[in-house]
Amino acid sequence: MNSYTVRTAQGVRGEIRVPGDKSISHRSIMFGSLARGITRVTGFLRGEDALCTLEAFRAMGIEIEDDGSSITIHGKGIHGLSEPTDVVDCGNSGTSMRLLTGLLAGQNFFSVLTGDKYLRARPMKRVVGPLSQMGAKIFGRAGGEKAPLAIQGSKLSGISYDSPVSSAQVKSAIMLAGLYADGETVVREPHLSRDHSERMLRYFGAELETFEGGVKVHGGVELTGRELMVPGDISSAAFFMVAALIVPGSELLIKGVGVNPTRTGIIDILKAMGGDLELTNPREESGEPVADILVRSSKLKAIEISGDVVPRAIDEFPVITVAAALAEGTTVISGAAELRVKETDRIAAMADNLRRAGVEVAETKDGMEITGVECLKACNADSFGDHRIAMSMMVAGLTAPGETLVSDVDCIATSFPGFRDLLMGVVKH
Ligand code: S3P
Repeated sequence: MNSYTVRTAQGVRGEIRVPGDKSISHRSIMFGSLARGITRVTGFLRGEDALCTLEAFRAMGIEIEDDGSSITIHGKGIHGLSEPTDVVDCGNSGTSMRLLTGLLAGQNFFSVLTGDKYLRARPMKRVVGPLSQMGAKIFGRAGGEKAPLAIQGSKLSGISYDSPVSSAQVKSAIMLAGLYADGETVVREPHLSRDHSERMLRYFGAELETFEGGVKVHGGVELTGRELMVPGDISSAAFFMVAALIVPGSELLIKGVGVNPTRTGIIDILKAMGGDLELTNPREESGEPVADILVRSSKLKAIEISGDVVPRAIDEFPVITVAAALAEGTTVISGAAELRVKETDRIAAMADNLRRAGVEVAETKDGMEITGVECLKACNADSFGDHRIAMSMMVAGLTAPGETLVSDVDCIATSFPGFRDLLMGVVKH
């Protein structure tokens, strides 16, 4: 298990690009494989999670080439997958496992999905339940709640499903099953979660209906392969945004970041905290909005975070708590119980780490209250095996006098290979 040491920074300055969006990278492989003809993907994230999805589709008979600059997928159409001859390993990736479960439910073959110890502990009933209502035959540990999941593909019928959670993984799993189901499939959610599946299905030529609170898909769509550009991941950019805000003397330009409105909660939250963030050069690439983001050091103040901004910033909460730890006043986060079932319990993990850094934190069932301090203490932080906790505590360490040690950092490779080098390239000591 490797660890990193981070020292106090005097500024975060320069111009960077972050790796491709993880959610869009997964979906590029999935929909590219289900499309007929060739899809060429540039900007694909070669992180462990998205590579698990890539390998899963290779195992289902799809030819996928990687020449180092782009990924070429030889899609065989919606009914072109074949039975994998071995268990499919989703590693640490919830997106791979949940979306694949939906897709595999409607195939004419058998498959088994597993993952690492963190993924095997995460809830799967949220997809297994509604998919079973569609007629899926899925078996798993703890009555289908936990992986490994065994899926006997079967005939599915469309449903109208009101999801109790705002989750793009749940929504996308049901939509994918809906492509194979008789009739229409409707998914509604309390607040809109990321809509990359909806956008990409349309980009590949499918007709679907989106409406206030939900989405409707029809069985038997035809998808056509095409060129696809993956924008920089706003969830990866978030670590740099917070680093530049909290380290005095910073000015950082992050180029080519995906700014889909279902993902820009982080920008709204940081701006509400008094952060100086400017979006420039807005454009659209492959059906997704993209912009450059200029960030300058700012004096932050505490705010209340709840409601529909929560799913729009769901992966950014670990680093948002770092910003809150240095903001004036008490930041109150609520309505974010989903954080407890991420790669680790992110409420407990950040509360633990921030307390080590000298911050007063109260945990609630669905959030936390963080009282900001002038300056963090250097500490020994623990990633708890979660990439975003590791990166958040490395960012926190930039403001603490002395050395902050972050242990178990190998997990960063799931979403952000090269994070440390990119960070150290713009950090001034
Ligand atoms: C993702 C959806 C979110 C997010 C995850 C990626 C996706 O999960 O946390 O990192 O690609 O659909 P939930 O659907 O569980 O909220």
